[in-house]
Amino acid sequence: MAVGIFDSGLGGLTVYREVHDLLPDLPLVYFGDNAHAPYGVRDADDIYELTCQGVSRLFEAGCDLVILACNTASAAALRRMQENWVPPDKRVLGVFVPLIEALTERTWGDNSAPREVDVKHVALFATPSTVASRAFQRELSFRAIGVDVEAQPCGGLVDALEVGDLILAEALVRSHVDALKRRMPHPEAAVLGCTHYPLMAEAFAAALGPDVRIFSQGKLVAKSLDDYLMRHPDMRGKGQTSGFLTTGNPRVVSDQATRFLHREIVFQAA
Ligand code: DGL
Repeated sequence: MAVGIFDSGLGGLTVYREVHDLLPDLPLVYFGDNAHAPYGVRDADDIYELTCQGVSRLFEAGCDLVILACNTASAAALRRMQENWVPPDKRVLGVFVPLIEALTERTWGDNSAPREVDVKHVALFATPSTVASRAFQRELSFRAIGVDVEAQPCGGLVDALEVGDLILAEALVRSHVDALKRRMPHPEAAVLGCTHYPLMAEAFAAALGPDVRIFSQGKLVAKSLDDYLMRHPDMRGKGQTSGFLTTGNPRVVSDQATRFLHREIVFQAA
């Protein structure tokens, strides 16, 4: 009965928090590949290999269903994993689709033709690798027409958040928002397309101003997982115990995670 949550580092904890709050009885095994974070500056092959290794570890821990709580892995590796690698009795799901369904006002699994939606100018903030993949624009084009997306690769932001340097992170948010606004002065919506960024939601909101609606993934992914498990109760997996696994130094990562989420989190070596 355990579901796996994978991220390159600490960012997936923003998804973990919402899933745990919505489904407190569901055992969750979190895997952070802190030894190899950040993924956002790696190439697609590298991200694919690392993501497969981490997800294998979650399968070993009794998870039949794994959420890639990492946009970078969802963008660079998920499709290839689903086509060539995921065993038939397992599932690996990403974090893009619930977000794009919310942005395009669709309910789960509505695969009807792309149509016009209210929002026309969208700012996407994500890692350099997610931006380069254009995966967000591709998924959006399956569902909506006439939406102009301006993407800002937020170099440095994940590194600052992984080490808990919130002053640097805030300065980076301001400069990335300024850079985006020079190209798109009046976005109607902003997507926080990296699971680390909800930690800086207030800084993004302040820099973007009150007229911009901000979409972030935690609650949307949690709701979509709840729907999925209701439709596929067999995918809850065999594992019964929750836990936090890391490829980094467990003591250091536990301290960083506790600061990151403001609740005590104890990691073990993966
Ligand atoms: N938090 C991840 C994401 O959603 C990964 C960031 C990184 O490792 O660069 O993209």
